Amino acid sequence: MRIGTVEIGDGALLAPMAGITEMPFRALCRRMGAALVYTEMVSVNSLLYRSAEAETLLDTSPEERPVAVQLFGDDPALMADMAARWGERYDLIDLNMGCPAPKIVKAGRGCALMRNPALAAQIAQRVCAAAGKPVTAKIRAGWDEESRNAVEFARRLEDAGIAAVCVHGRTRSQQYSGAADLRVIARVKEALSIPVIGNGDVDSGPSAARMLRETGCDAVMVGRAARGNPWVFEQIAHYLRTGETLPGPSCAERLGVAIEHGRMLAAQQGETLAALKMRKHMAWYLHGARGAAACRRHLMAARSLSEMEEMLAQCLTAGES
Ligand SMILES: Cc1cc2nc3c(=O)[nH]c(=O)nc-3n(C[C@H](O)[C@H](O)[C@H](O)COP(=O)(O)O)c2cc1C
Repeated sequence: MRIGTVEIGDGALLAPMAGITEMPFRALCRRMGAALVYTEMVSVNSLLYRSAEAETLLDTSPEERPVAVQLFGDDPALMADMAARWGERYDLIDLNMGCPAPKIVKAGRGCALMRNPALAAQIAQRVCAAAGKPVTAKIRAGWDEESRNAVEFARRLEDAGIAAVCVHGRTRSQQYSGAADLRVIARVKEALSIPVIGNGDVDSGPSAARMLRETGCDAVMVGRAARGNPWVFEQIAHYLRTGETLPGPSCAERLGVAIEHGRMLAAQQGETLAALKMRKHMAWYLHGARGAAACRRHLMAARSLSEMEEMLAQCLTAGES
């Protein structure tokens, strides 16, 4: 698939996820076959002040390319300015028009833009003109049941110059409940000539194949199922190529990747922060292992990365015996 001038390989895309898709995790997912990875959403207002936190969010490395930065905001001029200033580190710029969090939508950002298509189109136009690289957008099915406007909304974005649209098949009011609606993704795909990426509930080869078959979308994006499970990308790629399901990773593989993830995070952000942030990741890497619940409780109390590594090793090797 090609998004504007950027060639994207076959395979699923890693969804932007706040607090999760930091640089080390993105690099791991790319290594396991993700075709494209996204930063979490970054506020253009925070970039204006160059907070240390925003700077870390913007770190990138050659191993993760192609990589997209996801920006959010509601001011077309500021969005365009920040896209031009920061976009050069990235292959693509993605605009967040789907975040349902109250704090975000109250400020007229994220999914609130789906209620204001004129402003969304203006943002898209300004960013496309300023960015000097392909600009994509991530939207939802609509705001709520009464306003499922993904098709018209996506058409306006295409007219404004957007190079690809990702559709999460839920409305803002559904948040993450119920099942993603594949029909709305199919309708957007039918209406647009640019690539359409389907998103929502893809967690395996068969569910990726179903999304592609039932919507005709050009690629699928995986969010929650990738947490603690970057292998999902090689599983999807293998299934789409052969129709066969790969076995999951062994305990030793899980342990190795979890440890590598923690060390990469420590190299980027320091031991203390990495140990804190790895608690949730380690718990996800444990998913499905025998004795995981007890091990998770210990992990939450661990004070250092090495303490965590030891606990995880004990738990995963006990699970294998
Ligand atoms: C913890 C978490 C954080 C998320 N952060 C973002 C974000 O920063 N930007 C965004 O566009 N979507 C965000 N999402 C939504 C995901 O990108 C994705 O659209 C959603 O999880 C549905 O896909 P899935 O069923 O594969 O998880 C987030 C989702 C989760 C669970």
